[in-house]
Amino acid sequence: MNNNDQPIGIFDSGIGGTSIWKAIHKLLPNEKTIYLADSRNAPYGQKTKEEIVALSMKNTEFLLDMKCKLIVVACNTATTNAIQELRSKYNVPFIGIEPAIKPAVTHSKTQIIGILATQGTLNSELFNKTTEKYQDTKIIEQVGHGLVQLIENGEINSPEMTTLLQAYLIPMINANIDYLVLGCSHYPYLIPQIKKILPKHIHIIDSGEAVAKQTQNILRENIGFASSQNNEPIFYTNTNPKVLTEILENKYTVEQENF
Ligand code: SIN
Repeated sequence: MNNNDQPIGIFDSGIGGTSIWKAIHKLLPNEKTIYLADSRNAPYGQKTKEEIVALSMKNTEFLLDMKCKLIVVACNTATTNAIQELRSKYNVPFIGIEPAIKPAVTHSKTQIIGILATQGTLNSELFNKTTEKYQDTKIIEQVGHGLVQLIENGEINSPEMTTLLQAYLIPMINANIDYLVLGCSHYPYLIPQIKKILPKHIHIIDSGEAVAKQTQNILRENIGFASSQNNEPIFYTNTNPKVLTEILENKYTVEQENF
């Protein structure tokens, strides 16, 4: 197999990174992709940095064994806590997913934006270095306690989800945000519920498209695109495949593996 025909590896703490996988698959339909859902260890957001680094290395090694040419860390918590360690240990390009603070700050008219993310992301050095650059904008940080677990349990439309989202978003609305940044790859699956709570003038930003474009750039500049149509994706999970299969609308087979 030509190097260019090797797969793109994508991992997340669970099913949420499929929002990133979808953006990559849409932009680069000829590329073969392997998606790894570490749902047994979700959520990463409440773990220590050392635990997140160790889990990210375990996932990376699984994908490297599958000969991936590039790895996308489709998890904000893993990116903000572990991407530097991954880059220094493994000889493969890594693309991370960081909260899209810059476009929100650039376009905000009220100069007040909100970010919903995990504790692990909001506490990370990388995130705090990013926000330090934007002293003129008020950034309201909210930890999305419980949201990832409900999504992993398949309870996206539950009354409990609505109650949590209202508790997290209403104070931001009252504080006059005009942009809401979704700083966790699981949260795009909540956009229909979030839109029911937010007034129409508040924009929602996630990072899927930006990550897909960055993947395309790295392939163009450093690695090369797949030479032939190669696009049947492979999905692995280390728990019951039901919720992952459902979030993929039953279009793909999901394999259960002990990683
Ligand atoms: C989590 O595992 O806590 C969420 C994943 C993310 O931060 O994207």
